[in-house]
Amino acid sequence: MTETIPPFAESVKEAESRLSRLLNGRCKILVHHELDVGLMTDIETIDHEKFRRELWYDRDELDSRRQRRGFLCLIARLDGRAVAFDYGYDDEEEGTFFSDTTATLIEGKSVGSTLFALEILHSYENGYEYTKLTTEEVDEEGRPLTRIWGRLGFEIVSSDPSEGVEMRLKHTPQGIRSLYDRYISDK
Ligand SMILES: CC(C)(COP(=O)(O)OP(=O)(O)OC[C@H]1O[C@@H](n2cnc3c(N)ncnc32)[C@H](O)[C@@H]1OP(=O)(O)O)[C@@H](O)C(=O)NCCC(=O)NCCS
Repeated sequence: MTETIPPFAESVKEAESRLSRLLNGRCKILVHHELDVGLMTDIETIDHEKFRRELWYDRDELDSRRQRRGFLCLIARLDGRAVAFDYGYDDEEEGTFFSDTTATLIEGKSVGSTLFALEILHSYENGYEYTKLTTEEVDEEGRPLTRIWGRLGFEIVSSDPSEGVEMRLKHTPQGIRSLYDRYISDK
């Protein structure tokens, strides 16, 4: 069966409409390939609120990531305020996009999953074969992270007590269409 997958730019508009409805406000999703100081501050504010201190990225770490090849960052703003971000870049493995971090101030309303789904759709449209991430099975707040990403279609590749869990998603038209229907479409 041939799956129709809307273009990325159109999908961003659709996701804005969906999140505006779900969050009862005006949601904008901005797509960045570069980060200025203001955007890095927005990311740090969310990062420091949602992650324990040992996982915080300092400005130098963020600065080096934004210079990686293929860098893509999505930021969701609700009524002007940055509430969520997702960013990644080319992985060392050919044809693979590495999704570095996703975090949202508003949890459980699919904001994080929607940004992630858009990132995956963008990678698919740009010819990447896989999306990869590393995570913890369960974090200190009890979030079942491997299960959360498993719902998006990620499968565990390896698990190591010091390195964490590596997960990978193979991009298929059916999988991308399913993410679109669940997290992007406002129908
Ligand atoms: C992980 C995260 C990005 C998910 O984004 P989200 O917008 O909350 O995701 P969703 O609303 O689509 O929820 C996805 C699933 O996670 C569950 N979930 C969300 N927040 C949760 C929480 N605090 N505790 C337990 N489960 C949670 C939802 O119930 C849902 O499960 P379901 O599919 O069984 O219904 C978000 O929880 C977050 O920002 N966490 C803090 C930062 C973080 O840990 N990032 C991931 C690093 S790998």
